[in-house]
Amino acid sequence: MSRYIINGGKKLEGEIESDGSKNSVLPILAASLINGNESIIHNIPELKDVHTLSNVLENIGCKVEYNGNTMVINSKGELNTNIPEKPVKEMRSSIILMGAMLGRFKKVMISYPGGCEIGPRPIDLHLMGLKKLGVNITESHGYITCQCDKLIGKEIHLDYPSVGATENIMLAAVSAEGVTIIQNAAREPEIIDLQEFMNKTGANIIGAGSSTIKILGTKKFCNAEHTIIPDRIVAGTFLIAAAITGGTILLKNVLIDHLKPLMSKLTESGCSIEKFENAIKIRGPKRLNAIDIVRTQPYPGFPTDLQAQFMSLTTIAKGTSIIVETVFENRYKHAEELLKMGAKIKIDGRTAIIRGVKELTGARLTAKDLRGGAALVLAGLAAEGITTIDNTDNHIERGYADFDVKLKKLGADITKVDL
Ligand code: UD1
Repeated sequence: MSRYIINGGKKLEGEIESDGSKNSVLPILAASLINGNESIIHNIPELKDVHTLSNVLENIGCKVEYNGNTMVINSKGELNTNIPEKPVKEMRSSIILMGAMLGRFKKVMISYPGGCEIGPRPIDLHLMGLKKLGVNITESHGYITCQCDKLIGKEIHLDYPSVGATENIMLAAVSAEGVTIIQNAAREPEIIDLQEFMNKTGANIIGAGSSTIKILGTKKFCNAEHTIIPDRIVAGTFLIAAAITGGTILLKNVLIDHLKPLMSKLTESGCSIEKFENAIKIRGPKRLNAIDIVRTQPYPGFPTDLQAQFMSLTTIAKGTSIIVETVFENRYKHAEELLKMGAKIKIDGRTAIIRGVKELTGARLTAKDLRGGAALVLAGLAAEGITTIDNTDNHIERGYADFDVKLKKLGADITKVDL
């Protein structure tokens, strides 16, 4: 287990670059199974989740080579269509291998993803979409077995714009006969990145980024080379880190449009923001203002993956802020920990009411999920005294590469201890 020890109260100052997006790279690695060829992928972030998925790819028979932040995946030949159970239990998003394996081999056996720390995360929409494409699905003893003779393009309406379901259906539909149309598709930038990568492998997809995605199935795939987009959630976390410490940072290698919902709330809280072509400069105010209401929503709404970090900011803002989490149930575990630092938070179902205090005080905390863990780090940076955060390797490091090192470079007093 790893622990962060933070001596709070230092303003963050300096420059930092955003890494490649975790939520883009995972589906793109899964998609590299489909072409049966070589995929060269640049801007790979150095993350635990990326290693977990690349190990699965090797385990089922792909050749995977790392060269700095570039990964070369060769998926030629027969692969094992039984996905090992452990990584699927560890990392829910390995469920996207289902669509990719069906796209390539028309069969797959995968364990049912376990429960999750941010509430139940069903996969009914994934299964409904795949069934519509002609896949026979049986579920027994915690395993899902999918197979079909061929996939047939269909019109699929999602009741909710689920990111994972949209991706799984795209991955399977690229090799279906005819046209698949996904209505009410997720519009996240990571879906556009997946479309771009898959089109480079020979797929024929249009519409990603809008609510309607059209996929014309094909049988011919080829080698591809692609660069992953910058991680908007990591970038957003650093912006909030600057804001909460009253510091000034220049964040480079970002796609500004992806951060609009956060920047609008940061401006409302009193931060000054300057935008450059692929960079943002943020200066935190002396005292942050409370925010009337922050409602998490599918893109382009305020991202649920920044809700916890933003809550840390509101704990020391002047006045009362309200956060409504509409995407996931039970995504307020960080609130219990923030209370230990003197924060004043009341949770009522999906609504959190936060009365800003002047100062948080350091405390002994435990990271309970990835983004909630990052939120505790931000609170620790702003707090008076020492904060220790346990379990950082199991959560924070799944989504933030060298978080402690990068924060230290910006002037934070943070030490990582491996216990
Ligand atoms: C992805 C992101 C995650 C982010 C989330 C929402 C990855 C690897 N993860 O997760 O970081 O927080 O999008 O932006 O990209 N749902 C159903 N049935 C389904 C599928 C989803 O009810 O079949 C519900 C979920 O329980 C949740 C909501 O839909 O309440 C959103 O989930 P979804 O968009 O699918 O998120 P993920 O793809 O799991």
